[in-house]
Amino acid sequence: MKKKKVAVLISGFGGNLQALINACSASEYPAQIVTVISNKADAYGLQRAADNNIPAHFIDHKTFSSREEFDAALHEKVTASGAEIVCLAGFMRLLSSGFVDKWRGRIINIHPSLLPEFKGANAVKDALAAGATRTGCTVHHVIPEVDAGEIIVQRAIDILPGDTEETVHARIHEQEHIAYPQALKLLCERLL
Ligand code: GRF
Repeated sequence: MKKKKVAVLISGFGGNLQALINACSASEYPAQIVTVISNKADAYGLQRAADNNIPAHFIDHKTFSSREEFDAALHEKVTASGAEIVCLAGFMRLLSSGFVDKWRGRIINIHPSLLPEFKGANAVKDALAAGATRTGCTVHHVIPEVDAGEIIVQRAIDILPGDTEETVHARIHEQEHIAYPQALKLLCERLL
């Protein structure tokens, strides 16, 4: 089977990256990770990549004078890896519309809410503040508008009495680690 080549962009812990690495290790899974790129030098996900012999790169966004210049460097690295799909997995940078347009239909993200509810950087905090009894995670296509592209997979959790941001995050993460491999598989099959 010809696996689709995937670049994973991260900024931190890389729990979702690990879930994708695990999924890709199965011979019948239709994707392989060819590069991991972080905009943070100390992202633990870089270590996860190294532990799995995946080429990993740190590109410091602070050394570029504009978002567009950083994104151009990012695009060059992703393209050089041979990647056909880009997965954002806790990548905490907004991407320029130029970058997103180049990858349209082949760039996906994971967000910790049931979109279109609770967009933005504080999705779990906002769900708790709104008194929601249900939230979850969404894997979606990336378009220039933030957290707004077509939804590929969603998985829900209940918010229980006594829950805190930490407990909700922990249960969402469990669902994310199922949802992201599912969504990437669906995208690969769609692109075949
Ligand atoms: C996840 O909760 C994801 O939904 C959000 O950032 C977090 C990344 O976690 N976009 P990790 O680095 O994959 O563990």
